[in-house]
Amino acid sequence: MKNILVTGGLGYIGSHTVVALQQAGFNVFIIDDLSNTIINVWEKITEITNIQPIFYNIDLKDYNAVSVFFQSHKIDGVIHFAAYKAVGESVTKPLMYYRNNLVGLINVLQAMEEHDANNFIFSSSCTVYGQADEMPIHENTPLKKPESPYGNTKKMGEEIIEDFVNATNKNAIALRYFNPVGSNINGTLGDLQPIPTNLVPYILQIAIGNKSKLNVFGNDYNTKDGTAIRDYIDVNDLADAHVKAIQRLLLNQNKTKIEYFNLGSGTGSTVLEIVQAFENANHIKIPFEIKPRRAGDIEQAYADYSLAQKELNWCPKTPLQKSMQTAWNFQKQLTEI
Ligand code: UD1
Repeated sequence: MKNILVTGGLGYIGSHTVVALQQAGFNVFIIDDLSNTIINVWEKITEITNIQPIFYNIDLKDYNAVSVFFQSHKIDGVIHFAAYKAVGESVTKPLMYYRNNLVGLINVLQAMEEHDANNFIFSSSCTVYGQADEMPIHENTPLKKPESPYGNTKKMGEEIIEDFVNATNKNAIALRYFNPVGSNINGTLGDLQPIPTNLVPYILQIAIGNKSKLNVFGNDYNTKDGTAIRDYIDVNDLADAHVKAIQRLLLNQNKTKIEYFNLGSGTGSTVLEIVQAFENANHIKIPFEIKPRRAGDIEQAYADYSLAQKELNWCPKTPLQKSMQTAWNFQKQLTEI
């Protein structure tokens, strides 16, 4: 049984990936500092899989603690999710983002070098493309300066990893997610945003009655209904891609020392189409109001995922309506936590 470390394994995408790894027969270790999640997620994972992953509450900025972990366990692969991810907060607290996201990454890579762990999957983002000139976005679409310090930590993270693998015997895959949505089937895992800023978490706040209406940021974009287009990809499909990516590295099937894959549904949806999809899936009305554009937002981004399809044998399987249902299931059961 291969040992996989999942940093940020109690977070949104991390927890779904831990479940998928356990179901695929991997032995999973989680490192999480609980800065953006709660310990109950550990129990929820165990309830789903009947296997309790080994969990360490470690701050990745503490190199000694990271090194001791690697010394104690022979790790075959690392999937690195642990990072701050609130775009707006990163603009007001850039150093906090650079320190947390980059020092954490560097410490994990250094411990891998010191303790002979060789395979690394990085949680990257479509934010590295900025507003691309052509749609859909493929992996060799030119990168642009990201709009936020958060986005920049993803771009810089990729560069750090590239330099690192080129200097060592390590291999890496960077997975560039588009907009993750949805939850596991019965909604016990999900996106625990303390102050929701992303579109679907915000819609859930309206559905549950905590907010009265959605602010739709801009209806003057050059799109079919004037609202901005994104590519919403189900979190279970993302989890599946991580399992395939780590298997690829473990089987030495990678073609270069670092590979990049887009993970999206391939379909662009406007903000109003997401509202509609949620309403149709759950029969709940989401009142909205058109507001000015949000600073830093791009007009559109959607993925060409054909490289992931070809190389990882991955394709998105979950329809948007299903993601909207599971997201709502998650919101409903949150009160029971
Ligand atoms: C942002 C980040 C992305 C990150 C993602 C999840 C950038 C450019 N994008 O994506 O890297 O992975 O968050 O953390 O840094 N909207 C509304 N009303 C709302 C909320 C959102 O109209 O209340 C609109 C936005 O203007 C946007 C769309 O919904 O057009 C999606 O927004 P959001 O869910 O915040 O994701 P992104 O900004 O695309």
